[in-house]
Amino acid sequence: MRVYDIIRKKREGMELTDGEIRFFVDGYTEGSIPDYQASAFLMAAFLQGLSFQETFSLTDAIVHSGKVLDLSRIPGIKADKHSTGGVGDGVSLAVAPVAAACGLKVAMMSGRGLGHTGGTLDKLESIQGYRCDLSEGEFARVVERVGCSIIGQTAELAPADKKLYALRDVTATVDKKELIAASILGKKLAEGIDCLVLDVKCGSGAFMKTEADARELASLMVRIARERGKKVTALITDMDAPLGNAVGNSMEVIEAIDCLRGRAPQDYTELVYELSSRMLLLAGYGTPEECRTQCERAVESGAAFAKFKEMVGAQGGNVGWIEDTELFPRAPCSRIVRAERDGFISHMDAEGYGTAALLLGAGRQKKEDAIDYSAGIRILKKTGDEVLEGDGIAVLFASDEALFPAAEKRLLASVRYSDAPPPARPLVLGVVG
Ligand code: URA
Repeated sequence: MRVYDIIRKKREGMELTDGEIRFFVDGYTEGSIPDYQASAFLMAAFLQGLSFQETFSLTDAIVHSGKVLDLSRIPGIKADKHSTGGVGDGVSLAVAPVAAACGLKVAMMSGRGLGHTGGTLDKLESIQGYRCDLSEGEFARVVERVGCSIIGQTAELAPADKKLYALRDVTATVDKKELIAASILGKKLAEGIDCLVLDVKCGSGAFMKTEADARELASLMVRIARERGKKVTALITDMDAPLGNAVGNSMEVIEAIDCLRGRAPQDYTELVYELSSRMLLLAGYGTPEECRTQCERAVESGAAFAKFKEMVGAQGGNVGWIEDTELFPRAPCSRIVRAERDGFISHMDAEGYGTAALLLGAGRQKKEDAIDYSAGIRILKKTGDEVLEGDGIAVLFASDEALFPAAEKRLLASVRYSDAPPPARPLVLGVVG
């Protein structure tokens, strides 16, 4: 078999066999297929698309490019939640302890920020001492003892995705449904979980800009995960505006803590309950209403907050910072961004907000960039809010005043106004599976 022939076959729009896809994934993972041929393959797949069978084979080849975790010795149902990526979307930090406080075992492997979207690992690493690099043995022990653990993908788990993702990121081949589905499920199916809740983001801040595309991606992932014997549900949720009021790493950790203490913004809290109660529902914890009530009780009783502290402590993090969020380092510089006219905010381009946060230092412009954990945006006004010209709509935080002009320009360009209130957009746009 020659990779040249595989690229050519895909370029011509023909369907690849399972063996050809496996040959490509294994060869690229072990290094016998170079980046330039893998790039050509990805672009051919991007332009010609992949059939369901090809996407299934690609997912399976990614799963088997490394080790598949065995968590079966941990009693109870193991579950995870995964988002396709958004802005201000730090809800995993709250969802995991809420579900764990209800009795689920949450084994969560998360990623870093990509482009304008934030990453759960970067957020957690803003907590002094928190270790995302637990060994598989340590991970399993924390899941068993505490009930939840959030770590990064280990080197042995789905190594093909790590290499392919980095290549897609620089070859403009990220936003293709089949490739996203294989990438996400390639990791999730290697985790040894029983249940998976997918949060497929849709709108200006998401990879899927339209509801139709988000629905197609959700259906594809649900079908693959089901055929692999997992219990799975996908929620299609709004990412046309940033979620909650914080964009930036330590600011989003503080927002998650606020949620666990029952005082986060309404959209954020609602999504945490939607996702955590869906996890319980999949695991057979009762009717939708009963699952929702269990999640709400876990927050009201303080059990979910206690779980979060326990997890942070078990992973080496400074629990004092969780108890007193004033201890998180604050950015030395801030600037208020003001409304440019009277009216209602009719649209916030979430990608623009994410990019503005990136420009402030909250994300990486190049893979090797260091993150400024205290940088970010506090959102003061959101879609539907009425403003007068000059009202503060957001506060920027950074370590250097020189970063403000570009970020402010990007943010202002992301806001649109109208004379009448815009129609309200529901948070959950659909459920698949
Ligand atoms: N998240 C992933 O893990 N992979 C993708 O391709 C997109 C989002």
